[in-house]
Amino acid sequence: MSEVLAEHGYLADDSLATSLFLALRMGRPLLLEGEAGSGKTEVANVLARWSGGELLRLQCYDGIDASQAVYEWDYARQLLHLRAAEMSGVGTDGPGELEHSLYSEEFLVRRPLLRAIAGASDDGPVPILLIDEIDRADDEFEAYLLEILSDFTVTVPELGTFRAARPPVVILTSNRTRDVHDALKRRCLYHWVDYPSFEREVAIVRLRVPEASEPIAREVSAVVAELRRRGLYKPPGVAESIDWAQAISVLGSSHLDERTVERTLGAVIKYREDAERVRATGIAELVSGALKYGT
Ligand SMILES: Nc1ncnc2c1ncn2[C@@H]1O[C@H](COP(=O)(O)OP(=O)(O)OP(=O)(O)O)[C@@H](O)[C@H]1O
Ligand SMILES: [Mg+2]
Repeated sequence: MSEVLAEHGYLADDSLATSLFLALRMGRPLLLEGEAGSGKTEVANVLARWSGGELLRLQCYDGIDASQAVYEWDYARQLLHLRAAEMSGVGTDGPGELEHSLYSEEFLVRRPLLRAIAGASDDGPVPILLIDEIDRADDEFEAYLLEILSDFTVTVPELGTFRAARPPVVILTSNRTRDVHDALKRRCLYHWVDYPSFEREVAIVRLRVPEASEPIAREVSAVVAELRRRGLYKPPGVAESIDWAQAISVLGSSHLDERTVERTLGAVIKYREDAERVRATGIAELVSGALKYGT
């Protein structure tokens, strides 16, 4: 599993590779929790690249409901259809027939959950359903999701029931702004996505930013590891290491010195208070301390 993921651009540690392997083999959703920018969403992307299955992403937010997640009717087009039918006299054999034609598949807007359920054919790769940042959705939506994840069916009252020929691969992610309920957790396998080890982070940076030299990748990873130990409001994730290495490469610096860090801090620190804290304790010390520890 680790090798296959690496071939497709994702460097997972053994525990994540095992969780993924089990989720695929057991046909269970996998809930990934972890700090921001630690590589949760990318897991679904890499699974899609590997399997060739369609990636269906449901980005959760406060107030998301079934019309955004499952399906809704295209009212504007229904209305147009109705007008056209009235003007041409087509479909006026009775109100029943017209109504029937309005609630046909033609006017059904399929959202990610329905597409994941109705989309898997009997052969070919199954879709990868990414339910991203589930902690942002509210309790009702979570309960609704639980229902769908337990039997992979969706009923559209006007059309009937859609049932997955084969269940999709389901990846849920959470940044843990609130706890996901136990009932949903029980349906899923669970994995905490930790920051990578120093060596793995160096490898990720090199993979993602090929123009960054080995020393830059090592220095960036070492300083980022040190910043994570500082208890910042928003510790940098892998995403920030990648951005930072890119920024340094763009500037053409060959290694991390105080001036380079000062100029590129915005690629790795995203809050003013955090930047002030880092500057207050001294950038030179940050760099020299980190480089002694890492690289
Ligand atoms: N193990 C890894 N191998 C390769 N690339 C990685 C790895 N971990 C993270 N990345 C890269 O880091 C970046 C951030 O990853 P991703 O968006 O998946 O994080 P996230 O945990 O979903 O963050 P957020 O919580 O902010 O949504 C992406 O560009 C991703 O490709
Ligand atoms: Mg994400």
